[in-house]
Amino acid sequence: MGIHTMAWKLGFLLSFLIFQSESLKVTAQNNPPAIIPAPVYMETQPGELFTTGIDILVELPAREQGLKRMISGFILSEIPEAAVNFIDEQSEGVMRGPGIFFITTPPQKGQDEGYEGYELQIKPEGVFISSPTSAGLFYGFQTLKQIILQTEKENRTAGLNLPCLTIKDHPVFLWRGMLLDCSRHFMEKEFILRYIDLLALYKMNRFHWHLTDDQGWRIQIDKYPELTKVGAWRKGDDGLIYGGFYTKDDIREVVAYAAERHIVVVPEIEMPGHALAALASYPGLSCTGGPFEVPTTWGVFKDIYCAGNDSVFVFLKDVLDEVIELFPSPWIHIGGDESPKYRWENCDRCKSRMEAYRLKDGHALQSWFIGEITKFLASRNRILIGWDEITEGGLHPGVVVQSWQGFEGAIHATEKGCQSIVSPTSHAYFDYPISKTTLEKVYSFNPVPAKLDPALHYMILGGECNIWTERASQEVIDQKVFPRILAMAEVLWTAPEARDFPAFRKRVRSQYPMLTGLGVEYGLEEGGLKIVTEKVAEGLQITMIPEQDNLTIRYTTGSDVWIPYTAPLLVRDSLTLQAAAYIGNNRVSEIYTRRYNLHNGVGLPYHLSLKPGGTYNKNPQTTLTDGIRGTQDFHDGLWLGFWEKNVAVDFNFQEEREIQEIRVGCMQSNPSWIFLPAEIEIVMKPKGLFRKPVIMSAVSSLPKESVYILHDFTFRPDKPVKVKKLEIRIDNPGKCPPWHPGAGSPTWVFLDEIEIDNVDNLQGQRMR
Ligand code: ACM
Ligand code: ZN
Repeated sequence: MGIHTMAWKLGFLLSFLIFQSESLKVTAQNNPPAIIPAPVYMETQPGELFTTGIDILVELPAREQGLKRMISGFILSEIPEAAVNFIDEQSEGVMRGPGIFFITTPPQKGQDEGYEGYELQIKPEGVFISSPTSAGLFYGFQTLKQIILQTEKENRTAGLNLPCLTIKDHPVFLWRGMLLDCSRHFMEKEFILRYIDLLALYKMNRFHWHLTDDQGWRIQIDKYPELTKVGAWRKGDDGLIYGGFYTKDDIREVVAYAAERHIVVVPEIEMPGHALAALASYPGLSCTGGPFEVPTTWGVFKDIYCAGNDSVFVFLKDVLDEVIELFPSPWIHIGGDESPKYRWENCDRCKSRMEAYRLKDGHALQSWFIGEITKFLASRNRILIGWDEITEGGLHPGVVVQSWQGFEGAIHATEKGCQSIVSPTSHAYFDYPISKTTLEKVYSFNPVPAKLDPALHYMILGGECNIWTERASQEVIDQKVFPRILAMAEVLWTAPEARDFPAFRKRVRSQYPMLTGLGVEYGLEEGGLKIVTEKVAEGLQITMIPEQDNLTIRYTTGSDVWIPYTAPLLVRDSLTLQAAAYIGNNRVSEIYTRRYNLHNGVGLPYHLSLKPGGTYNKNPQTTLTDGIRGTQDFHDGLWLGFWEKNVAVDFNFQEEREIQEIRVGCMQSNPSWIFLPAEIEIVMKPKGLFRKPVIMSAVSSLPKESVYILHDFTFRPDKPVKVKKLEIRIDNPGKCPPWHPGAGSPTWVFLDEIEIDNVDNLQGQRMR
C-alpha cells in the first residue's frame, strides 16, 4: 500500500467520525453532480481535482483484474489522450501526481462479503474509493463514471477535472433486477451485453433472463436439439421465419461479463405453462400429443406440459441440469405463471396422477409439479423462484415468490416463511405504456407491501422491472426502459426517506446528455400528451396538453397530413382523431387514437349493477356515455371490463325521450379472454305504470375466428319508442370454450359506450 493511501485512510477515519452524526445531506458548495441512484450521503466541497498531463495513476488491489480492464476501457473511450498507469499493493515507487485510488478497508460490523457499500472522496490530491468488498469498489467506480461522464467532454481530453466531494453509500435492497423477455422478441447477444453495462451503471445487480416461452425457446440444450431447431423459430408478421437462440458459448460470455460487473444472471425456464415452443419441438410432452406450432399470437395457451407423464420430468430435469451448468446463479426461475388447468383436468394421465397423490384439483397438481422441481433444484443446491401462481395449491418451503399480480403474492409468501421479489404490474411492468406507468409512478414504488407486518419486511429481497416484449423488438427497448429504469434503480438502492421526486426528475434531466453520449435512445417521462374532452353547448371540446416543456403536439383527423395543434377542437358529430407528441420533427410518444361520436346520450348518468374489474375501470360513472369510443387497445382507459358475471346498465331519464336506435359497444379479444356478450337484452319502459315496455334482445353470432373485433350490438325498433327508463342487461358468456387457450376459465366482457339516438337526431345512422 502506498504512503499516499495510508495518509488518506487516516483522513478518511477522521472524516468518518465527523460525518457519523449527519444523515442524508447534500450541501451545494459545488454544483453537485447528478448521481442516480442518489447516494446515502453526499457533500460537495470547494475545490477541484485536476490531473494535468496525460498520465492517470490508478492504484487498485491486484485481485481486481476485471475492474482494471473496465477502468482501462473507460478511460480509453472517455479520456482518449490519457495513459493509465496501474499500480497495486505490491508496486513500489514514487507517486506521480493525483490519481484514482481503490482501497480495500477492513470490514466494519454488518459488512459481510455481500456488502455493496463504498465511500468515495474527490480531493485535489486524487479520487479515493474505499470498500471492504469488490462489489463496493465496483459501485464506487460506477459513481465516479457518472461524475466523469457529466463533465464536459472537451475538458477531459487530457485528464480528469472533477469537483471535490465526499460520498458514503450503500443500498437498501439486495435484489435490484431487470427482467428482459428474449422469447417473444429475440435480442442479440451484443444488445444483452450493452444492457449489462447499463444496469451496472445504475447499480442494478440482477439480470433476469426470460429465455423460454410459448413464442420461442432461446437456449441451446444439447440433449434436446429440436428445442432450438424447431422451438426457436416462428412465422414472422412479414411471412418470413423469425427467431434465434443463444448458444452455450453466448451464454457463458454473458454470464462472465455480468459477473465481472457484479450482476447475477438468473435464467428463467418456464413451466408448466408458457411452454408451446417446447411442445412444438417435443409434442409428446403435452397432454394431447399435439401437433403444435410455435405460436405467432400473444396470450395464455391451454397446452402445457403434461403433469401425468414421467417423461416430462425426465426432460425438465435434463434441461435444468444443462441450465445449472451454464448459470452459477444460486437461483433458477421456473416461471409457474398463467398455466390453465383445462388440459390436466381432461387428461387421463394427469387424472391418474391426481388420484395417486390425492390431489383435489388442477391447482393442487400445479403445487405437486412445482414441488417436484423444487426438490430437484434443491438436490443441485439451487433455489427455485416462481411467479405468484406457485403459491396455488400450497407453497413449498425455501422457494422465492416473485409477486407480479400486485403485492398479495409477496404478503402471502412471506407470511408462509418464503422470501419474495416484488414486481407488480402497477409499477414495474415497463411493457405497459408510459402514459400508464409514468416515471413518477415507478418512483412511487416500494417493494415492501404497505400492508406487510414490519417483522416480515426483511423477507422482501427487493424488486425488478419487467420488460415483456410481445409488442417490443430490440429497437424500441431503450425508450421503454429509459428513463423509467432510473426510477427503479433509485427505488431499490436509496432509502425511502431520502427520495424526492422533483429532485430526482431534475437529476434525470441532468443525465440525459450522458445517456445520449452512451447511445441510449431514451423515451418519455410521461405519456407525452393528455387529451381532455369536455361536453360544451356546441358539442365535444377536445383540448390537448403536452406533458413536458420540450414537446409539441401534432394531430390528424383523417388525412395523411399532421397539423401542429394550437387550439381546442370541437366535435359536432363524429370524428376520428390521431395525435402524438413531437420533439422537433421526431414523434416521441405513442400515437393516441380517439374516436368521438356525439350521440344523444352523451353525458347522461347511468347505474351499473357490477363494478368493473382489473385495471379496466377508469371513470366507471361516465365512460359509457362520454362520446369517446374505445380503440383496439383494451388498455386505453376507454373500456370498462366486467369479469365473470352479467352486468346491467340502467338509465332513468329526466324526461321521456323518443328513441330511434341504441348501440352497445363491445369488443372481442380472444387471446385476452375478452368475448362478446352471450346476449344483450334491452327493456325500454315508457312513463306511466300501465304502459307496456318494448323489449329487444340480440345474441352474439360471431365465429370463433373473430379474434380481435370491435362490435356494436344495434337495437332499432320498427318505430321510435318513448322511453323514460332504459334497462340494458349484458350477459357474460361464461367459461372460455373448449377450443380456446383458456378453456374452462371465466371470461371478460368489455363495454366502451352506450350510444342512444333520439328520433330527432338526423345523424342517427352514424356508425363505425
Ligand atoms: C407474468 O407477467 N405473467 C409473470
Ligand atoms: Zn396430462
